[in-house]
Amino acid sequence: MPKTRAYSIRAEDVAAESERAGGDFDQVDISRVLRLDDLELREVGRSDVHMKILAVSGEHNVDHAVLADTVNIAETRGGKIYPGNSAVGEVLAVGSDVTRFAAGDIVLTHCNGGPDEYGYPTRIWAYDADDSIGWYSEEAVVGDWQLVKAPVDCGLSLWEIAALPLRAPTAYHLWRRALGIFRVKVSREQLATLNVLSFGGGVGELFLMLARAEGHNAFFCAGSDARRAALERFGVVGIDQKEYNRFATRDDVRKFSRKLRDLTNGVQAHIVCDMLRGPVFAAGLAAAARCGVNVSAGWQLSQEVTYNSTLQSVKQVTIDHTHYETPVGCEAATALYGSVFKPTIHSEVYPFEDLGRCMHEMHKNTQTGIPIVRVAKDLPASVAKIA
Ligand SMILES: NC(=O)c1ccc[n+]([C@@H]2O[C@H](COP(=O)([O-])OP(=O)(O)OC[C@H]3O[C@@H](n4cnc5c(N)ncnc54)[C@H](OP(=O)(O)O)[C@@H]3O)[C@@H](O)[C@H]2O)c1
Repeated sequence: MPKTRAYSIRAEDVAAESERAGGDFDQVDISRVLRLDDLELREVGRSDVHMKILAVSGEHNVDHAVLADTVNIAETRGGKIYPGNSAVGEVLAVGSDVTRFAAGDIVLTHCNGGPDEYGYPTRIWAYDADDSIGWYSEEAVVGDWQLVKAPVDCGLSLWEIAALPLRAPTAYHLWRRALGIFRVKVSREQLATLNVLSFGGGVGELFLMLARAEGHNAFFCAGSDARRAALERFGVVGIDQKEYNRFATRDDVRKFSRKLRDLTNGVQAHIVCDMLRGPVFAAGLAAAARCGVNVSAGWQLSQEVTYNSTLQSVKQVTIDHTHYETPVGCEAATALYGSVFKPTIHSEVYPFEDLGRCMHEMHKNTQTGIPIVRVAKDLPASVAKIA
């Protein structure tokens, strides 16, 4: 098989950058660690698909890998990983057993890197799944089970479609879990319209799009003015997180909770999507209504949470932790592209060679939406019209 250009993260570069930054995550330059490398593609097996990558999105697990927070994943996986677990591609060739895809199809990757007996990921592709090669590359060979047909006629642009393969299934799973748990406690007959709160970021905004599509009240507490403004067109009420100092003190949390109380006639939020934990968790919990549900698939600000068990028991509040979708759930989430999911993307679509800068700007939290990287210079006609 030919070689392709692919980004890699090496443990020695992670260590060198950490040392240069004096161990301060804020000083780490992500672009100094992400390297454009050569990768030899594996042979196309009977169940494999060979594809050309058209566009990818910037994903936070790359940040986690470069910072070696959570775990030092490059070191754990033998010293080097090839990141990137959200991509849109064009099928170039398929193995002899592949029937779902053919050359010329436009496809999306999902990153469930090892489904358990119920389909839930035990591992994430291009992160902790053994031997998994990511898709921040010009070409890739993947198993056909990792692909979903791209809904190119859903009304979204190619770049908006590229924003969704990782974040939309995550939001979809969080939403169906949170709603299911809430409905165990309170039936639709008892309360049809819920108050749903989410915090900043791509997954958080998609979560609220699901809530709005089902007729619920939605509140987005984010620091980004552009993001809040974008969500207002879906009827989502924006709350500036910076007015509450990103919940630095208990007083900030109390003020935020009071604000939400005012906005909800004293009821608070029946469903809260967190994604960050740390101070955001405390704020989400303080804003929970009776019988509320607090869900998260992220731990960007902290892996540990503490809470008053007595208080949550008395309020009948459920705290739930999730982790990406099943392959079937990824297909279901994809069916909502364009109708429910209309993502906010960052103003610049980055060229492939600037993927490091893209990831660094994401680390600095300066982007106005989900960051997209154009990988292919030449696009097939089927998607050139939506680029
Ligand atoms: N387990 C899974 O399956 C799974 C799947 C997807 C994502 N995740 C994780 O979930 C997290 C969010 O993912 P995402 O894709 O939604 O991220 P994203 O689109 O990059 O958004 C992250 C958002 O967090 C907010 N933020 C950043 N720093 C903050 C701070 N110090 N305090 C408060 N808010 C801050 C920012 O919003 P504002 O500035 O507007 O407030 C930012 O836009 C990431 O850690 C990611 O790794 C997990």
